[in-house]
Amino acid sequence: MANKNSFETNFIKVKKENAQALIKLINKKFKKKNIINQKINVLHEKDDVLFPLINDKDVINYLTKYIENKIDIQFIYKKGKINQNFEYKSIQDYLEGKIPDEYINLIPKSYDLIGNIVIIEFDKFYRSINKKINLLKIEIAKAIININKKVKSVYEKKSKIKGKYRLRELNLLYGENKPETIYKENNCVFKLDIKNTYFTPRLVYERNRISSSKINKNEIIIDMFAGVGPISIQIAKKHEVRLYSFDVNPYAHKYLKENIKLNKLKGVIYPYNIDIKNILNATNQIGRFLYHKANRIIMNLPEKSINFFDVACFLMKRTGGILHNYQFCEKPEPIKKAVKNLNVGLKKFNWIIEKILDSRIVKAYSPTSDLVVVDLFIKPLTS
Ligand SMILES: C[S@@+](CC[C@H](N)C(=O)[O-])C[C@H]1O[C@@H](n2cnc3c(N)ncnc32)[C@H](O)[C@@H]1O
Repeated sequence: MANKNSFETNFIKVKKENAQALIKLINKKFKKKNIINQKINVLHEKDDVLFPLINDKDVINYLTKYIENKIDIQFIYKKGKINQNFEYKSIQDYLEGKIPDEYINLIPKSYDLIGNIVIIEFDKFYRSINKKINLLKIEIAKAIININKKVKSVYEKKSKIKGKYRLRELNLLYGENKPETIYKENNCVFKLDIKNTYFTPRLVYERNRISSSKINKNEIIIDMFAGVGPISIQIAKKHEVRLYSFDVNPYAHKYLKENIKLNKLKGVIYPYNIDIKNILNATNQIGRFLYHKANRIIMNLPEKSINFFDVACFLMKRTGGILHNYQFCEKPEPIKKAVKNLNVGLKKFNWIIEKILDSRIVKAYSPTSDLVVVDLFIKPLTS
């Protein structure tokens, strides 16, 4: 990789006494387009000033055509010093000149920012692990930290989300190895650990959609797969309700309890660290208490939610209630497939869909499937 403090580029050289006139002419000709490269320091030599130019071949042609016959100028290709005060807007911008040009287009276009942590995914190209590629990843991670002063750590995704706790393997590329962070969303704060708890910032719209929907005062709501509480907390922030929030992962439960304290809530959240299936045991206290008490149930475990309709039917009020059900479904027509799964699954427990209230594709999950949500009113077959 190139020296990070220097950068080779074209300069336009002009006598000191003509420097101001040159800049005036450039501004007049190019108006808003900034052709002086702000990333490189202007050079001051004995009688001359050298302005670094952006990397664009047309610029030299234009300058030759429009300036050369008005002011005496010269073009020089040489090393300049990086302007340490320049604020970069993108990783590409930051790394230009520091990594080979052919790698610039391979820089991932997006990443997840969770509090002061960035999680980035590299595509197939980067899997051909060799030393050069590894160095490139580290340069990208350093660039992220340099352009975003808030970011303290950059982790790379090393696996898909997996296991009962829905976690993924992460590898620290650069920065502090501190997986705990504070994330803010929709006027709530969440403490979480990106290695030991499930969390995605990509559901921000969805969490706002659910928490802003019509929820009645005093509703009893069950968040079957609550994680660190992003949905429960956003609902309780806005509504005077009672939420029972379950998660089997002890870390998720610990952070959920902290997050309840960190946020000023209108509603009350009761957190439980159990496998929600245990609710069905005749001896389970909270199960006995919540039997047919829920007005609303949230089932945010897309890969397996259809295996938990027994729990949902056990908890939902006999007069019926609202289910927010998430599923990964194959394209085409993933929503149609999700509704079919709901129909078939609920019928097994003698419950039916009275009305589909809403449905949407939340996001693409894989090239062949989408994450979908269906909001529906369900009731027992016999009522
Ligand atoms: C996809 S995450 C969703 C978490 C949270 N709703 C969110 O939006 O961040 C699913 C969560 O369900 C929990 N989980 C998985 N199986 C469970 C079970 N049988 N009972 C209770 N929690 C479970 C996992 O530990 C994980 O935190």
